[in-house]
Amino acid sequence: MRGEPLLPHLGIPDRATMANDDEEARVTPWEVSGVVDYDELIERFGTSRLEGPIKEKLVDLAGEDHWMLRRGIFYSHRDLDVILDRQAKGKPWALYTGRGPSGHTHIGHILPWVFNRWLQERFDVEMYFQITDDEKFLFDNGLTLDDTYNYALENALDYIALGFPAGKTKVLIDTQYIKTMYPLALRTAKRITYSTARATFGFTNDYNIGQIWYTSMQSVPAFIPSHLHGEEVPTLIPAAIDQDAHFRLTRDVAPRMGFPKPCLAHCKLLPSLLGGDKMSASDPRSTIYTTDGPKVVRKKLMNAFTGGQVSVEEQRRLGANPDVCPVFRYEEYLFMPDDAKLAELELQCRGGEILCGEHKLDLLERINAWLERHQAAREEARERLDDYILRD
Ligand code: TRP
Repeated sequence: MRGEPLLPHLGIPDRATMANDDEEARVTPWEVSGVVDYDELIERFGTSRLEGPIKEKLVDLAGEDHWMLRRGIFYSHRDLDVILDRQAKGKPWALYTGRGPSGHTHIGHILPWVFNRWLQERFDVEMYFQITDDEKFLFDNGLTLDDTYNYALENALDYIALGFPAGKTKVLIDTQYIKTMYPLALRTAKRITYSTARATFGFTNDYNIGQIWYTSMQSVPAFIPSHLHGEEVPTLIPAAIDQDAHFRLTRDVAPRMGFPKPCLAHCKLLPSLLGGDKMSASDPRSTIYTTDGPKVVRKKLMNAFTGGQVSVEEQRRLGANPDVCPVFRYEEYLFMPDDAKLAELELQCRGGEILCGEHKLDLLERINAWLERHQAAREEARERLDDYILRD
């Protein structure tokens, strides 16, 4: 299935100015490849821009700005105003996000989770974290259910290690919480026709029927807070924009099931270290896993594509181009929250004052320091897993 032009109707035209410009960008829940035009996705998916008054209102209610908002990393939304109105009126709402456990967590997954943590901390709301071991079993031929369940537990450690408090944070592993989820998934599935699912995801005859059913499972946590509390508790789902297709269907069926529509905040994806905006989840060199040791990280980072010139002389003379540089994106998206520092780095970079090798070594130190702390925190979380995982 991988490598096939899966969902051509969701594919977006390539406006690449760099390598790989013969490839079409694809943005689906299961595949992101090519050079992604995030502005066009807003039009294609029919979402709203997260800017202007709505962004100001969010910052105002949160009592604090966040770099992912300032820098347009969380850049799109659906009905965020509904959540903000409830917040202003003191009515309950909850956060929902998730992870498909196809392997260990990488830095790109951490990106939306950091924003989720900030929202939960600012608004003191419940957080539901779905881990879809069923999805990754159904969609990845190489993985058994034992594999995806084991990765589910490993991925949960990364989530907990980011500081989500027990009690307010509930981890739902699909195969473990199925008794509660199944009736809600059934009610969802009954309202989604095959033709709607096919039009949304581009299913062809060789898909297994589990894949076609799966979107009903991803819908369930959007309803779980209302279901558990016996009152309207709408969810805000902060997630990478590639997940939007599922929630378009969830939003369609929600009112007919008597639940509020989930609201969304969408972020961009952290680009691959191998160059361009090209994502390649299957290539371990394209990203840094939270379980990688310092030597592995060093190798990946030092080999990463940059916006630099071919020689030191040219770099000094022409400067580098941070616009196409994944290493610069790592700073912008995660590792350099300080705007003044980022602006200075950009100047040095464009002016040829700093060489890519120098910059990489500096970032390497910060990434490895972060990983060391994170790895200690995720080991420490192992004993506390049961405080988070919902079982029934
Ligand atoms: N399908 C997602 C993935 O493959 C996992 C997921 C489930 C999710 N529910 C979610 C992601 C809600 C974001 C928000 O990673």
